[in-house]
Amino acid sequence: MRKNKDVKDYIRTIVDFPHEGIMFRDVTTLFADPRGFRMAIDQMLHPFAGERIDKVVGLEARGFIMGGAIAHQLSVGFVPVRKKGKLPGTTISEEYTLEYGEAIVEIHDDAIQPGEKILVVDDLLATGGTAKAGIKLIERLGGEIIACSFIIDLPELGGRKKLEDMGMNVSVLCE
Ligand code: PRP
Ligand code: ADE
Repeated sequence: MRKNKDVKDYIRTIVDFPHEGIMFRDVTTLFADPRGFRMAIDQMLHPFAGERIDKVVGLEARGFIMGGAIAHQLSVGFVPVRKKGKLPGTTISEEYTLEYGEAIVEIHDDAIQPGEKILVVDDLLATGGTAKAGIKLIERLGGEIIACSFIIDLPELGGRKKLEDMGMNVSVLCE
């Protein structure tokens, strides 16, 4: 009998993108499939049923896609954490390193009110540098992070441990 597809089965790996030696997990094939996309959103929401969440924060760029869908499903607001220079209002910023480079991320300084309960969403957790920078931005604004939710974790890169060592609740669908 044919096995039902899991979220992982919809994700393809592209070798040597964007640099030699990187196994790039390409979630566009998951997003393009109506069953796969719904399955991923439903599974990301599942652990937080009945939990108070005031806002979803999505990390650029692929975190905007699930983050927007999850915020819609929860009927809460969505806040983007963006790469430097993209947000038009007054921002605060954090620098970080990732698997293949360095970057700065920003958030609008009025996007989160102190005490708001936040769900952080991105497609993939690798070194955890991006998520850590996002977490720092949210905490600087006084947000209380309920959890960080990802589709994929690459455990060999240590991101999950990094976030758990910061006291974060980390939720992932597959490795
Ligand atoms: C990818 C991914 C995560 C981040 C994970 O984004 O979507 O945001 O890397 O890596 P880390 O755990 O080592 O920080 P990328 O920086 O490639 O940006 P993009 O989504 O804008 O393409
Ligand atoms: N971001 C960091 N590492 C990645 C990988 N291996 N695949 C997709 N996105 C990534």
